[in-house]
Amino acid sequence: MKLTQADFQERRDRLAKQMGPHSIAIIATSPVAMRNRDADYKFRADSSFFYLTGFYEPEAVAVIETSDSLDDGYSYSLFCRERDREMEIWNGYRAGVEGAVDEYEADEAYAIDLLDEEIIEKLLNKEKLFYRIGQQAEFDARVTNWITEANGESRRGTSAPSHIIQLDRILDEMRLHKSSQEIELMQTASTISAQAHTRAMQTVRPGMMEYALEAELNYIFGQNGCVPAYNSIVGGGANGCILHYMENDKALNDGDLVLIDAACEYQLYASDITRTFPVNGKFSPEQKALYAIILKAQLAAIDAVRVGHSYKEPHHVAVRIMVEGLIELGLMQGDIEEIIRTESFRQFYMHGTGHWLGMDVHDVGSYKHEGEWRAYEAGMVVTIEPGLYIAPDDETVDEKWRGIGIRIEDDVVVTESGPRVLTASVVKTIEEIEALMAQV
Ligand code: GLY
Ligand code: MN
Ligand code: MN
Repeated sequence: MKLTQADFQERRDRLAKQMGPHSIAIIATSPVAMRNRDADYKFRADSSFFYLTGFYEPEAVAVIETSDSLDDGYSYSLFCRERDREMEIWNGYRAGVEGAVDEYEADEAYAIDLLDEEIIEKLLNKEKLFYRIGQQAEFDARVTNWITEANGESRRGTSAPSHIIQLDRILDEMRLHKSSQEIELMQTASTISAQAHTRAMQTVRPGMMEYALEAELNYIFGQNGCVPAYNSIVGGGANGCILHYMENDKALNDGDLVLIDAACEYQLYASDITRTFPVNGKFSPEQKALYAIILKAQLAAIDAVRVGHSYKEPHHVAVRIMVEGLIELGLMQGDIEEIIRTESFRQFYMHGTGHWLGMDVHDVGSYKHEGEWRAYEAGMVVTIEPGLYIAPDDETVDEKWRGIGIRIEDDVVVTESGPRVLTASVVKTIEEIEALMAQV
Protein backbone atom coordinates (compact mmCIF):
# COMPACT_ATOMS: atom_id res chain seq x y z
CA MET A 1 0.00 0.00 0.00
CA LYS A 2 1.20 3.44 -0.89
CA LEU A 3 -0.55 6.73 -0.34
CA THR A 4 -1.42 8.44 -3.61
CA GLN A 5 -1.70 12.09 -4.60
CA ALA A 6 -5.47 11.74 -4.15
CA ASP A 7 -4.86 11.03 -0.43
CA PHE A 8 -2.58 14.05 0.00
CA GLN A 9 -5.03 16.24 -1.91
CA GLU A 10 -7.91 15.13 0.27
CA ARG A 11 -5.88 16.26 3.31
CA ARG A 12 -5.23 19.66 1.71
CA ASP A 13 -8.95 19.97 0.94
CA ARG A 14 -9.79 19.37 4.58
CA LEU A 15 -7.18 21.86 5.76
CA ALA A 16 -8.36 24.57 3.34
CA LYS A 17 -11.93 24.08 4.53
CA GLN A 18 -10.90 24.62 8.14
CA MET A 19 -8.89 27.73 7.25
CA GLY A 20 -11.87 29.57 5.79
CA PRO A 21 -11.65 32.33 3.15
CA HIS A 22 -8.96 35.07 2.83
CA SER A 23 -6.34 32.82 4.42
CA ILE A 24 -2.89 31.54 3.71
CA ALA A 25 -0.99 28.61 5.21
CA ILE A 26 2.79 28.24 4.99
CA ILE A 27 4.33 24.84 5.74
CA ALA A 28 8.07 24.11 5.48
CA THR A 29 9.77 20.73 5.46
CA SER A 30 12.66 19.87 7.83
CA PRO A 31 16.05 21.51 7.39
CA VAL A 32 18.97 19.24 6.51
CA ALA A 33 20.95 18.63 9.71
CA MET A 34 24.73 18.53 9.57
CA ARG A 35 26.43 15.59 11.29
CA ASN A 36 29.98 16.78 10.93
CA ARG A 37 32.18 18.31 8.25
CA ASP A 38 30.68 17.59 4.80
CA ALA A 39 28.51 14.79 6.19
CA ASP A 40 24.80 15.38 6.75
CA TYR A 41 22.37 13.30 8.72
CA LYS A 42 20.19 11.44 6.28
CA PHE A 43 17.30 13.73 5.40
CA ARG A 44 13.89 12.88 6.78
CA ALA A 45 10.97 15.00 5.57
CA ASP A 46 8.94 16.84 8.17
CA SER A 47 5.93 14.69 9.05
CA SER A 48 3.27 17.40 8.74
CA PHE A 49 4.75 18.74 5.51
CA PHE A 50 4.81 15.24 4.01
CA TYR A 51 1.31 14.57 5.35
CA LEU A 52 -0.01 17.37 3.14
CA THR A 53 2.23 17.01 0.09
CA GLY A 54 3.77 13.55 -0.26
CA PHE A 55 6.92 15.46 -1.24
CA TYR A 56 10.15 14.04 0.21
CA GLU A 57 12.86 16.40 -1.09
CA PRO A 58 14.64 18.83 1.23
CA GLU A 59 14.30 22.61 0.84
CA ALA A 60 10.60 22.72 0.13
CA VAL A 61 7.75 24.91 1.31
CA ALA A 62 4.05 24.43 0.62
CA VAL A 63 1.63 27.37 0.50
CA ILE A 64 -2.13 27.06 0.55
CA GLU A 65 -4.22 30.13 -0.23
CA THR A 66 -7.95 30.13 0.14
CA SER A 67 -10.02 32.28 -2.14
CA ASP A 68 -12.05 35.32 -1.20
CA SER A 69 -15.35 33.55 -1.50
CA LEU A 70 -16.89 31.01 0.82
CA ASP A 71 -16.77 28.27 -1.80
CA ASP A 72 -13.83 26.30 -0.31
CA GLY A 73 -11.70 27.06 -3.36
CA TYR A 74 -7.99 27.23 -2.76
CA SER A 75 -4.70 27.12 -4.58
CA TYR A 76 -1.70 25.02 -3.64
CA SER A 77 1.83 26.23 -4.42
CA LEU A 78 4.99 24.27 -3.94
CA PHE A 79 8.39 25.96 -3.64
CA CYS A 80 11.14 23.44 -4.30
CA ARG A 81 14.65 22.98 -5.68
CA GLU A 82 14.97 23.52 -9.40
CA ARG A 83 16.26 20.77 -11.63
CA ASP A 84 20.02 21.06 -11.99
CA ARG A 85 21.97 18.56 -14.05
CA GLU A 86 25.20 18.89 -12.12
CA MET A 87 23.62 18.78 -8.66
CA GLU A 88 21.53 15.80 -9.73
CA ILE A 89 24.68 13.92 -10.80
CA TRP A 90 26.08 14.44 -7.31
CA ASN A 91 22.98 14.16 -5.17
CA GLY A 92 20.20 12.54 -7.15
CA TYR A 93 16.98 13.27 -8.94
CA ARG A 94 14.92 16.39 -8.26
CA ALA A 95 11.30 16.83 -9.26
CA GLY A 96 11.86 20.49 -10.05
CA VAL A 97 9.07 22.97 -10.63
CA GLU A 98 7.76 20.91 -13.56
CA GLY A 99 7.59 17.78 -11.42
CA ALA A 100 5.94 19.71 -8.60
CA VAL A 101 3.06 20.45 -10.94
CA ASP A 102 2.98 17.21 -12.94
CA GLU A 103 3.79 14.63 -10.26
CA TYR A 104 2.76 16.39 -7.06
CA GLU A 105 -0.25 18.23 -8.42
CA ALA A 106 0.68 21.71 -7.27
CA ASP A 107 -1.39 24.44 -8.92
CA GLU A 108 1.73 26.60 -9.08
CA ALA A 109 5.37 25.78 -8.48
CA TYR A 110 8.36 28.06 -7.93
CA ALA A 111 12.08 27.68 -7.37
CA ILE A 112 12.74 27.72 -3.64
CA ASP A 113 15.15 30.63 -4.18
CA LEU A 114 12.15 32.80 -5.11
CA LEU A 115 10.33 32.21 -1.83
CA ASP A 116 11.25 35.49 -0.11
CA GLU A 117 10.12 37.42 -3.15
CA GLU A 118 6.93 35.58 -4.10
CA ILE A 119 5.55 35.08 -0.62
CA ILE A 120 4.97 38.81 -0.04
CA GLU A 121 2.49 39.01 -2.91
CA LYS A 122 0.72 35.97 -1.52
CA LEU A 123 0.47 37.43 1.98
CA LEU A 124 -1.09 40.66 0.80
CA ASN A 125 -4.83 40.98 1.27
CA LYS A 126 -5.06 37.81 3.33
CA GLU A 127 -6.73 38.12 6.71
CA LYS A 128 -5.31 35.08 8.42
CA LEU A 129 -1.91 33.45 8.31
CA PHE A 130 -1.78 29.83 9.43
CA TYR A 131 1.73 28.93 10.39
CA ARG A 132 3.46 26.27 12.50
CA ILE A 133 4.84 28.65 15.09
CA GLY A 134 7.89 27.45 17.01
CA GLN A 135 8.98 24.48 14.88
CA GLN A 136 12.13 26.01 13.36
CA ALA A 137 13.67 29.18 14.82
CA GLU A 138 15.31 30.23 11.54
CA PHE A 139 12.14 29.84 9.53
CA ASP A 140 10.15 31.66 12.25
CA ALA A 141 12.51 34.63 11.78
CA ARG A 142 11.91 34.59 8.03
CA VAL A 143 8.16 34.56 8.48
CA THR A 144 8.43 37.51 10.89
CA ASN A 145 10.39 39.42 8.25
CA TRP A 146 7.79 38.63 5.60
CA ILE A 147 5.02 39.97 7.82
CA THR A 148 6.99 43.16 8.43
CA GLU A 149 7.59 43.52 4.73
CA ALA A 150 3.96 42.86 3.86
CA ASN A 151 2.90 45.47 6.42
CA GLY A 152 5.27 47.92 4.74
CA GLU A 153 3.38 47.40 1.49
CA SER A 154 0.26 49.00 2.98
CA ARG A 155 1.07 52.26 1.22
CA ARG A 156 -0.08 50.49 -1.93
CA GLY A 157 -3.49 50.11 -0.34
CA THR A 158 -3.02 46.47 0.49
CA SER A 159 -3.10 44.83 3.89
CA ALA A 160 -1.11 42.08 5.57
CA PRO A 161 -2.73 39.31 7.67
CA SER A 162 -4.08 40.61 10.96
CA HIS A 163 -4.27 37.17 12.57
CA ILE A 164 -1.51 34.60 12.92
CA ILE A 165 -2.92 31.23 13.85
CA GLN A 166 -1.07 28.17 15.14
CA LEU A 167 -1.44 25.79 12.19
CA ASP A 168 -0.30 22.82 14.26
CA ARG A 169 -3.59 22.95 16.21
CA ILE A 170 -5.39 21.93 13.01
CA LEU A 171 -2.76 19.61 11.53
CA ASP A 172 -2.13 17.77 14.79
CA GLU A 173 -5.81 17.03 15.20
CA MET A 174 -6.03 15.80 11.60
CA ARG A 175 -2.99 13.55 12.09
CA LEU A 176 -4.28 12.18 15.39
CA HIS A 177 -7.23 10.55 13.61
CA LYS A 178 -5.83 7.93 11.27
CA SER A 179 -7.48 6.81 8.04
CA SER A 180 -7.76 3.12 7.18
CA GLN A 181 -4.78 3.53 4.80
CA GLU A 182 -2.68 5.03 7.56
CA ILE A 183 -3.60 2.15 9.88
CA GLU A 184 -2.57 -0.25 7.13
CA LEU A 185 0.86 1.41 6.87
CA MET A 186 1.24 1.29 10.64
CA GLN A 187 0.26 -2.39 10.56
CA THR A 188 3.06 -3.02 8.07
CA ALA A 189 5.58 -1.12 10.23
CA SER A 190 4.41 -3.07 13.28
CA THR A 191 4.62 -6.44 11.57
CA ILE A 192 8.19 -5.78 10.40
CA SER A 193 9.18 -4.60 13.89
CA ALA A 194 7.56 -7.67 15.43
CA GLN A 195 9.60 -9.84 13.08
CA ALA A 196 12.75 -8.00 14.21
CA HIS A 197 11.97 -8.69 17.88
CA THR A 198 11.30 -12.34 17.08
CA ARG A 199 14.70 -12.55 15.40
CA ALA A 200 16.33 -10.93 18.45
CA MET A 201 14.78 -13.56 20.74
CA GLN A 202 16.01 -16.28 18.41
CA THR A 203 19.59 -15.02 18.11
CA VAL A 204 20.52 -13.68 21.56
CA ARG A 205 23.23 -15.63 23.42
CA PRO A 206 25.08 -14.99 26.69
CA GLY A 207 28.25 -13.03 25.93
CA MET A 208 26.82 -11.32 22.86
CA MET A 209 27.20 -7.52 22.76
CA GLU A 210 24.12 -5.34 22.99
CA TYR A 211 25.04 -3.65 19.69
CA ALA A 212 25.31 -7.02 17.97
CA LEU A 213 21.76 -7.78 19.03
CA GLU A 214 20.72 -4.32 17.82
CA ALA A 215 22.26 -5.26 14.45
CA GLU A 216 19.90 -8.25 14.22
CA LEU A 217 16.94 -5.86 14.50
CA ASN A 218 18.44 -3.44 11.98
CA TYR A 219 18.91 -6.31 9.55
CA ILE A 220 15.17 -6.94 9.45
CA PHE A 221 14.37 -3.22 9.21
CA GLY A 222 16.83 -2.77 6.35
CA GLN A 223 15.68 -5.88 4.48
CA ASN A 224 12.21 -4.35 4.42
CA GLY A 225 13.29 -0.89 3.30
CA CYS A 226 12.72 0.58 6.73
CA VAL A 227 14.73 2.64 9.18
CA PRO A 228 14.44 2.74 12.98
CA ALA A 229 11.63 5.07 14.06
CA TYR A 230 13.75 6.21 17.04
CA ASN A 231 17.07 5.31 18.68
CA SER A 232 16.96 1.66 19.66
CA ILE A 233 17.36 0.66 23.29
CA VAL A 234 19.04 -2.70 23.84
CA GLY A 235 19.79 -2.92 27.55
CA GLY A 236 21.04 -6.02 29.30
CA GLY A 237 20.50 -6.52 33.05
CA ALA A 238 20.49 -3.23 35.00
CA ASN A 239 20.82 -1.25 31.75
CA GLY A 240 17.14 -2.10 31.31
CA CYS A 241 16.48 0.24 34.26
CA ILE A 242 17.90 3.24 32.37
CA LEU A 243 14.82 4.52 30.58
CA HIS A 244 16.61 6.09 27.62
CA TYR A 245 19.65 3.79 27.51
CA MET A 246 21.17 4.03 24.02
CA GLU A 247 24.85 3.19 24.34
CA ASN A 248 24.08 -0.47 23.66
CA ASP A 249 27.78 -1.25 24.12
CA LYS A 250 27.87 -3.80 26.96
CA ALA A 251 27.95 -7.57 26.95
CA LEU A 252 24.75 -9.50 27.60
CA ASN A 253 25.15 -11.76 30.61
CA ASP A 254 23.87 -15.22 31.37
CA GLY A 255 21.07 -14.93 33.92
CA ASP A 256 20.13 -11.36 32.98
CA LEU A 257 17.16 -10.08 31.05
CA VAL A 258 17.55 -7.89 27.99
CA LEU A 259 15.10 -5.05 27.38
CA ILE A 260 14.70 -4.07 23.73
CA ASP A 261 12.71 -0.97 22.80
CA ALA A 262 13.13 -0.73 19.04
CA ALA A 263 10.89 -0.45 16.02
CA CYS A 264 10.89 0.84 12.47
CA GLU A 265 9.04 3.37 10.40
CA TYR A 266 7.50 2.35 7.11
CA GLN A 267 6.69 5.06 4.57
CA LEU A 268 7.02 7.59 7.40
CA TYR A 269 4.66 5.72 9.72
CA ALA A 270 6.13 4.52 13.01
CA SER A 271 5.76 1.52 15.22
CA ASP A 272 7.04 1.23 18.79
CA ILE A 273 7.67 -2.12 20.49
CA THR A 274 9.34 -3.19 23.71
CA ARG A 275 10.00 -6.77 24.69
CA THR A 276 12.03 -8.02 27.65
CA PHE A 277 13.33 -11.58 27.67
CA PRO A 278 16.03 -13.73 29.31
CA VAL A 279 19.46 -13.74 27.64
CA ASN A 280 19.76 -17.49 28.27
CA GLY A 281 16.17 -18.29 27.31
CA LYS A 282 14.86 -19.05 30.82
CA PHE A 283 13.34 -16.54 33.26
CA SER A 284 14.58 -16.75 36.88
CA PRO A 285 11.88 -16.95 39.60
CA GLU A 286 12.24 -13.20 40.41
CA GLN A 287 12.23 -12.18 36.75
CA LYS A 288 9.19 -14.37 36.18
CA ALA A 289 7.30 -12.91 39.17
CA LEU A 290 7.85 -9.30 38.08
CA TYR A 291 7.24 -10.06 34.41
CA ALA A 292 3.90 -11.71 35.18
CA ILE A 293 2.69 -8.59 37.01
CA ILE A 294 3.66 -6.27 34.15
CA LEU A 295 2.08 -8.51 31.54
CA LYS A 296 -1.16 -8.69 33.55
CA ALA A 297 -1.11 -4.88 33.83
CA GLN A 298 -0.38 -4.45 30.13
CA LEU A 299 -3.18 -6.79 29.00
CA ALA A 300 -5.69 -5.04 31.25
CA ALA A 301 -4.49 -1.61 30.10
CA ILE A 302 -4.86 -2.62 26.43
CA ASP A 303 -8.39 -3.77 27.17
CA ALA A 304 -9.13 -0.28 28.56
CA VAL A 305 -8.32 1.39 25.21
CA ARG A 306 -11.95 1.81 24.21
CA VAL A 307 -14.02 4.49 22.51
CA GLY A 308 -15.24 6.92 25.16
CA HIS A 309 -12.73 5.93 27.85
CA SER A 310 -10.46 8.64 29.22
CA TYR A 311 -6.97 8.75 27.74
CA LYS A 312 -5.61 8.04 31.24
CA GLU A 313 -7.80 4.99 31.92
CA PRO A 314 -5.17 2.43 30.77
CA HIS A 315 -2.58 4.11 33.02
CA HIS A 316 -4.85 3.90 36.07
CA VAL A 317 -5.64 0.26 35.31
CA ALA A 318 -1.95 -0.63 34.86
CA VAL A 319 -0.81 1.22 37.98
CA ARG A 320 -3.35 -0.50 40.23
CA ILE A 321 -2.38 -3.98 39.04
CA MET A 322 1.34 -3.28 39.35
CA VAL A 323 1.00 -1.80 42.84
CA GLU A 324 -1.05 -4.82 43.95
CA GLY A 325 1.69 -7.06 42.59
CA LEU A 326 4.49 -5.09 44.21
CA ILE A 327 2.74 -5.36 47.59
CA GLU A 328 2.22 -9.11 47.13
CA LEU A 329 5.90 -9.63 46.35
CA GLY A 330 6.92 -7.54 49.38
CA LEU A 331 8.56 -4.85 47.24
CA MET A 332 6.17 -2.23 48.59
CA GLN A 333 4.40 -1.96 51.90
CA GLY A 334 1.34 -0.04 52.95
CA ASP A 335 -2.15 0.79 51.79
CA ILE A 336 -2.74 0.43 48.05
CA GLU A 337 -4.94 3.56 47.85
CA GLU A 338 -2.30 5.59 49.68
CA ILE A 339 0.47 4.32 47.39
CA ILE A 340 -1.57 5.25 44.31
CA ARG A 341 -2.63 8.64 45.73
CA THR A 342 0.89 9.69 46.71
CA GLU A 343 2.42 8.04 43.63
CA SER A 344 5.10 6.43 45.78
CA PHE A 345 5.08 3.63 43.16
CA ARG A 346 7.20 6.02 41.09
CA GLN A 347 10.19 4.45 42.85
CA PHE A 348 9.63 1.54 40.41
CA TYR A 349 7.36 3.00 37.72
CA MET A 350 8.32 6.53 36.79
CA HIS A 351 6.89 7.00 33.29
CA GLY A 352 3.44 7.18 31.72
CA THR A 353 1.73 4.15 30.21
CA GLY A 354 1.83 5.37 26.59
CA HIS A 355 1.59 8.11 24.01
CA TRP A 356 0.00 8.81 20.64
CA LEU A 357 1.71 7.01 17.77
CA GLY A 358 1.68 7.90 14.08
CA MET A 359 4.12 9.53 11.69
CA ASP A 360 6.16 10.51 14.75
CA VAL A 361 6.87 7.96 17.44
CA HIS A 362 5.66 10.41 20.08
CA ASP A 363 2.96 11.59 17.75
CA VAL A 364 1.14 14.88 17.64
CA GLY A 365 -2.30 15.45 19.10
CA SER A 366 -3.40 16.96 22.38
CA TYR A 367 -3.95 14.78 25.41
CA LYS A 368 -6.32 17.12 27.21
CA HIS A 369 -9.34 19.16 26.22
CA GLU A 370 -10.12 22.15 28.42
CA GLY A 371 -8.06 20.71 31.24
CA GLU A 372 -9.62 17.23 31.10
CA TRP A 373 -8.00 14.11 29.65
CA ARG A 374 -9.70 13.58 26.33
CA ALA A 375 -11.67 10.45 25.43
CA TYR A 376 -10.52 7.83 22.94
CA GLU A 377 -12.09 7.99 19.48
CA ALA A 378 -11.96 5.42 16.69
CA GLY A 379 -8.86 5.84 14.54
CA MET A 380 -6.53 7.03 17.31
CA VAL A 381 -3.40 4.93 17.90
CA VAL A 382 -1.73 4.72 21.29
CA THR A 383 1.11 2.72 22.79
CA ILE A 384 0.60 0.73 25.98
CA GLU A 385 3.91 0.29 27.74
CA PRO A 386 3.92 -0.39 31.47
CA GLY A 387 7.18 -1.42 33.12
CA LEU A 388 8.91 -1.88 36.45
CA TYR A 389 12.49 -0.90 37.13
CA ILE A 390 14.25 -1.97 40.33
CA ALA A 391 17.38 0.18 40.53
CA PRO A 392 20.60 -1.80 41.08
CA ASP A 393 21.39 0.33 44.15
CA ASP A 394 17.91 0.31 45.69
CA GLU A 395 18.59 -0.77 49.27
CA THR A 396 14.92 -0.63 50.23
CA VAL A 397 14.37 -3.99 48.51
CA ASP A 398 15.83 -7.44 48.89
CA GLU A 399 19.01 -7.86 46.84
CA LYS A 400 17.50 -10.54 44.63
CA TRP A 401 15.25 -7.97 42.95
CA ARG A 402 17.87 -5.34 42.23
CA GLY A 403 18.83 -4.48 38.67
CA ILE A 404 15.75 -6.00 37.05
CA GLY A 405 14.13 -3.70 34.46
CA ILE A 406 11.13 -4.88 32.45
CA ARG A 407 8.82 -3.11 30.01
CA ILE A 408 6.29 -4.56 27.58
CA GLU A 409 5.04 -2.24 24.84
CA ASP A 410 2.47 -2.71 22.08
CA ASP A 411 0.70 -0.42 19.62
CA VAL A 412 -3.07 -0.26 19.84
CA VAL A 413 -5.69 1.19 17.49
CA VAL A 414 -8.96 2.40 18.98
CA THR A 415 -11.81 0.84 16.99
CA GLU A 416 -15.59 0.81 17.43
CA SER A 417 -15.32 -2.89 18.24
CA GLY A 418 -12.54 -2.55 20.83
CA PRO A 419 -8.76 -2.39 20.93
CA ARG A 420 -6.82 -3.72 17.92
CA VAL A 421 -3.19 -4.59 18.68
CA LEU A 422 -0.96 -3.94 15.66
CA THR A 423 2.10 -5.57 17.23
CA ALA A 424 0.52 -8.87 18.23
CA SER A 425 2.78 -11.01 16.05
CA VAL A 426 5.70 -10.98 18.47
CA VAL A 427 5.15 -13.23 21.50
CA LYS A 428 5.02 -11.85 25.04
CA THR A 429 3.86 -14.47 27.55
CA ILE A 430 6.55 -16.21 29.60
CA GLU A 431 5.61 -19.60 28.14
CA GLU A 432 5.62 -18.35 24.53
CA ILE A 433 8.96 -16.57 24.92
CA GLU A 434 10.65 -19.56 26.55
CA ALA A 435 9.19 -21.92 23.92
CA LEU A 436 10.38 -19.71 21.04
CA MET A 437 13.85 -19.35 22.53
CA ALA A 438 14.11 -23.10 23.17
CA GLN A 439 13.51 -23.85 19.49
CA VAL A 440 16.89 -22.68 18.30
N1 GLY B 1 10.45 4.22 22.14
C1 GLY B 1 10.03 5.41 22.75
C2 GLY B 1 8.94 5.18 23.67
O1 GLY B 1 8.61 4.05 23.96
O2 GLY B 1 8.27 6.09 24.09
MN1 MN C 1 6.57 4.20 23.37
MN1 MN D 1 9.18 2.33 22.86
